[in-house]
Amino acid sequence: MTDHLSKSQAAEESENAGSNPSANPTMGDIIAQRLGRRDLLKGALAVTALGMTAAPLALALAASSQVAAQGSNTTPSFNFTEIEAGSDERHHVAEGYDADVLIRWGDPVLPGARAFDPQAQNPATQARQFGYNNDYLGYLPLDGSRRGLLVVNHEYTNEELMFPSLPGRQDLRTVRFKDMTRELVDIEMMAHGGSVLEVARGADGKWSVVAGSPFARRITAETEMEITGPAAGHDRLKTSYDPAGRKVRGMLNNCAGAMTPWGTWLTCEENVNGYFWGQLADTHPEARNYRRMGIPGNWYNWGQHHERFDIVKEPNEANRFGWVVEIDPRDPNSVPKKRTAMGRFKHEGAANIVNRDGRFVVYQGDDERFDYVYRFVTAAAVNTATPAANRDILDAGTLSVARYDADGTGQWLPLVFGQGPLTPANGFNSQADVVIECRRAADLLGATKMDRPEDVEANPKTNKVYVMLTNNSRRTAAQVDAVNPRAENRFGHIVEMTPPDGDHAAATFRWEVMLRCGDPSIAAVGATFNPNTSKDGWFGMPDNCAVDAAGRLWIATDGNAPSKTGRADGIWALETEGPARGTSKLFYRVPNGAEMCGPELTPDLETFFVAVQHPGEPDEDDPNAKPATFNTPSTRWPDFKDGMPPRPSVVAITRRGGGKIAM
Ligand code: FEO
Ligand code: CA
Ligand code: CA
Repeated sequence: MTDHLSKSQAAEESENAGSNPSANPTMGDIIAQRLGRRDLLKGALAVTALGMTAAPLALALAASSQVAAQGSNTTPSFNFTEIEAGSDERHHVAEGYDADVLIRWGDPVLPGARAFDPQAQNPATQARQFGYNNDYLGYLPLDGSRRGLLVVNHEYTNEELMFPSLPGRQDLRTVRFKDMTRELVDIEMMAHGGSVLEVARGADGKWSVVAGSPFARRITAETEMEITGPAAGHDRLKTSYDPAGRKVRGMLNNCAGAMTPWGTWLTCEENVNGYFWGQLADTHPEARNYRRMGIPGNWYNWGQHHERFDIVKEPNEANRFGWVVEIDPRDPNSVPKKRTAMGRFKHEGAANIVNRDGRFVVYQGDDERFDYVYRFVTAAAVNTATPAANRDILDAGTLSVARYDADGTGQWLPLVFGQGPLTPANGFNSQADVVIECRRAADLLGATKMDRPEDVEANPKTNKVYVMLTNNSRRTAAQVDAVNPRAENRFGHIVEMTPPDGDHAAATFRWEVMLRCGDPSIAAVGATFNPNTSKDGWFGMPDNCAVDAAGRLWIATDGNAPSKTGRADGIWALETEGPARGTSKLFYRVPNGAEMCGPELTPDLETFFVAVQHPGEPDEDDPNAKPATFNTPSTRWPDFKDGMPPRPSVVAITRRGGGKIAM
């Protein structure tokens, strides 16, 4: 890693991977059947949207708990003919499937939005259009698997690919952001955040975005949000804009996320350090905290035009980012909530499951080399009779961090003020301090330093929990441990965790390394794919993942490239049970320069939504690769028109002639 990183490289270095809890399949299935479009529309227009769907959600929750408790161990195998690994300007899907672009950066979202014109973008235009770098996708059924809300994270922006006026990448060290005007910064800010789309499947089986939907929403870096939980109102969150420390504008670098059983969207702030600049004195009270989070990251020059992103001028603003945000997508006027009880770090995602005792459990990765895996368990049980009662359930509970012991067991270490070292002697004077400096608190507890924890996913059919460790080239031989078994871990691995008796709130767990990734034909790599895996079927750098309604595990990767693995990123189907365990097959791959995000299947398993992020970047490790710009991208997917840059897009994959994916 050099000190001259593209945002994508930097993200690969330190970003988190997301989880896709809406892949809680049984839940989705039943929501699909039970939640009618009419009820949800009423919900969207009502002040108290959550109350509208009480009875159906109650059924959904009860059924889901049953499935989790049963721990049925049967998952069908994947059935499709895999594609050839490789990389070119186009995307590819398995034979017999169609991969159709659903929406691209710049396409209209809100009423009155203009058609995309790369030469005529401005902040107001972008604020009504689909944002950049789609990442997490969550599907909330309105009418089963044929009509629903698709929520989308817009993680970050690639100015060098977006703006025709730029000669190339902008950064602090080499060009001092000299071409990044206030206008361009404001476009970037409007291209961040999230989108809520109503999507529908037509009689021809094709998906489209419903124009003029009352649910349509854009969330940006300026959308006002509420801060809730133990850090709300704390002095360390107070700014000149918000002297009470309870409201904040925007969410940043939202990577992965999840849907909750009560119908909300959890969207996770990851590399928030990159948005801040300025330098605090070493003696500043926040200096140690900011150092641990990599603040200032100086990836953007927003601080040049907006004082709140300059930590010298507004030293508490950076404490207001790095949280899990909860949004009710059915109410476009709802105020997003930053739920501080779940801690402040570089959240990849928020995999969730309703525990057998009814409490809500959220597994989270902190995507940084040598950072941690966390778990949050709510104090209250999910209220199945009155979903509205769950509105603030994420504000009270116990956050813990994982320690993986060499004997294959592990401990959840509670991050609770006053317990163990989390006391005033170590600078923790309240639970607010613990959640604001979550990483430092976890350091003191002796958590296990992992190889960049990205997405986590819990499988309600088996109660197994999968953790994607994407890579860590900096781990030395002396730093190898049982759960991070390779030095210079370039290709990552997957850890499987098993709670005792299916109790996701227990203090302990068992774990094993399920898969070491990379090219199995190179002995030195030490990959452990099942020998039945083909030359196309292996992958490196697992990042996002999804468990589908049948309990099968799909892996999305970030960082494969011709120079590293001879292949683009994509979606791999990974067998987890029985003799086929560890067998992997390639289902879909992205065009040049892109990363694979957002894997999300509809409850009926007939549609696979995926997000193609930052197409057109160069192959960073190829010494002959030319820098990519608006005029010289490595692909012009999906439009392939002169003058039209590559555009991050959501793709809907369906089976030609209908039917379930890979069954
Ligand atoms: Fe944004 Fe860790 O992936
Ligand atoms: Ca990533
Ligand atoms: Ca990710």
